Formats: sequence, C-alpha cells, structure tokens
Amino acid sequence: MKLINKRILITGATSGIGLELVKKLYQNNHIYVIARNKHKIEELQSRFPDIVAYQADFSDLIALQDAVNVINREIHSLDLLINNVAVQYTPLITDDDFAVTSIVDEITINFTSICYLCYFLLPLLNQKHSAVILNVNSGLAIAPKTTSAIYCATKGALNSFSQSLRHQLSNTQVKVLQAFLPLVDTPMTEARGNSKMSVDRASRAIIKGIEKTIIDHDIGKVKLLRFINRLFPSLAKKIMRNH
Ligand SMILES: NC(=O)c1ccc[n+]([C@@H]2O[C@H](COP(=O)([O-])OP(=O)(O)OC[C@H]3O[C@@H](n4cnc5c(N)ncnc54)[C@H](OP(=O)(O)O)[C@@H]3O)[C@@H](O)[C@H]2O)c1
Repeated sequence: MKLINKRILITGATSGIGLELVKKLYQNNHIYVIARNKHKIEELQSRFPDIVAYQADFSDLIALQDAVNVINREIHSLDLLINNVAVQYTPLITDDDFAVTSIVDEITINFTSICYLCYFLLPLLNQKHSAVILNVNSGLAIAPKTTSAIYCATKGALNSFSQSLRHQLSNTQVKVLQAFLPLVDTPMTEARGNSKMSVDRASRAIIKGIEKTIIDHDIGKVKLLRFINRLFPSLAKKIMRNH
C-alpha cells in the first residue's frame, strides 16, 4: 500500500512514535487521531491544521466507543488503522506500593482498546479495495522481561490477537500487520536503557513495513531476539530475565 492520499487513523499520536508517524504521513494523507488530552490535541492541530481529532481516554471503553461512533458517522472509509497507543508501568507486582488498579488500566489501554477499535472500525476498513490494520508491537511479545510484567503480557496478547484476526480476515481486503519494535527513544523509555533506536528510524521502518506489506515486521534488534528465541529459547529467557 503506497501511503499517498490515504485515510489514516493513528492512535497515540501526541507523543513518541505516533507523533513521528504523523509528521511523516501528514503531508500526503488525511490523518485522523483519537487522543485523550485536550491541550495536546490542540497543540497537534496547531502544528498540523488538517488533522481531524477525536477525544477519548483509552482506559474508558465507553468513551472510546462514543468516539468511534462519531467517527463512523463522519468518515465513510478508512485505508489504514495504526494501533499505536500504549502505556508501560514499571512498578513490580511485588512492590509494597504496587497499585492493583493499574493492572486493569494497562490491559485496557494496551490491549482491549485495540480489540474494540478493530471491531468497531472494521466496517470502514471493509469499504476499501485494500486496507490495513497495523498493530505496533514490541520485542517483548516474543520474550518478556522481568519488569513491566503486565505490559509484556499485553504485547503477547496483542500478538496472539493479531494472528487470529489475520486468519479471520483472510477472505477480506483487510490485512493485519504487526511492527515489532526494539527499545526506541521516546518519552515512554526516558531514563531507561542504552543504544535506543531513534523515533525517526523506528517510524521510517514502520512505514516501510506497511508499504511492503510485511506481515510480522521485526525491526532492528528484534530480528536477533527472534532468532535467538527460536534456536536457543533458554538463552533468550536468560537475557530478558536481566531486564
Ligand atoms: N518506546 C519504545 O521503546 C517501544 C518499544 C517497543 C514498542 N513500543 C510501542 O510503541 C508504541 C508507541 O510508544 P511510544 O514509545 O511512542 O510511547 P509514548 O511516547 O509514551 O506515547 C504513547 C502515546 O499513547 C497515548 N496514550 C497513553 N495512554 C493513553 C490513554 N489512556 N488514552 C489515550 N491515549 C493514551 C499517549 O498520549 P498522551 O500524550 O496523552 O500521554 C501518547 O500519545 C506503543 O505501542 C509501545 O508499546 C515502544
């Protein structure tokens, strides 16, 4: 799919990788976003005036559904849905001050909301001769690390969901792709890890994967992680245990 003159809905577009995707896709396409923060939406629209924005907090599935209902009334078709929104909470489940309510929040934002968007936006995607759902995933879906246990589990679940949905849609024109990212330099990973990939490289790779219809696109160091995990699964577990 050549990303020119397409209708593209991007989530998590106010920061990091999502914002970089907007920067790269804005000029040649029609961009729609769903974001939670009114001020950030205004900021985005002042930089990119033609963006159409809808407001919803992804931890609130009713609000998300309301936003999607408006989208379904206002937009008649969609070429590309980029499910990019996510949070990564770092406290350990064994920490004294671990907030148990964060579990449902993280699962809802990172996983359930994506299932909802795929379900509710499918009719718009089906209007096209060729459409794509791109789920932004992580190497942690292949081999989870010690910290951020819920985050890793949501990415594993997203991988499973993406594969099943791909099978379910195999007789339609809608393709389900995933981009598996390594550590990328964004607000999510501030003060964490070394040798991070830049958002510029990560977003370029994502766009290339969509344009070339790469089904499960391993980006940067994820290629090596998948290779190690396939041949030496216990080594992959050992490496990730130290993270
Ligand atoms: N950075 C990495 O190293 C890395 C590695 C692998 C995969 N990924 C994946 O890449 C994607 C983008 O991550 P990023 O690093 O660019 O993160 P980021 O800079 O923290 O951006 C996250 C985006 O999600 C939005 N968001 C968070 N909670 C939300 C909620 N409740 N409702 C609506 N929007 C919400 C944020 O909105 P606000 O601006 O309002 O907070 C922001 O736009 C995620 O799927 C992440 O899992 C990232």
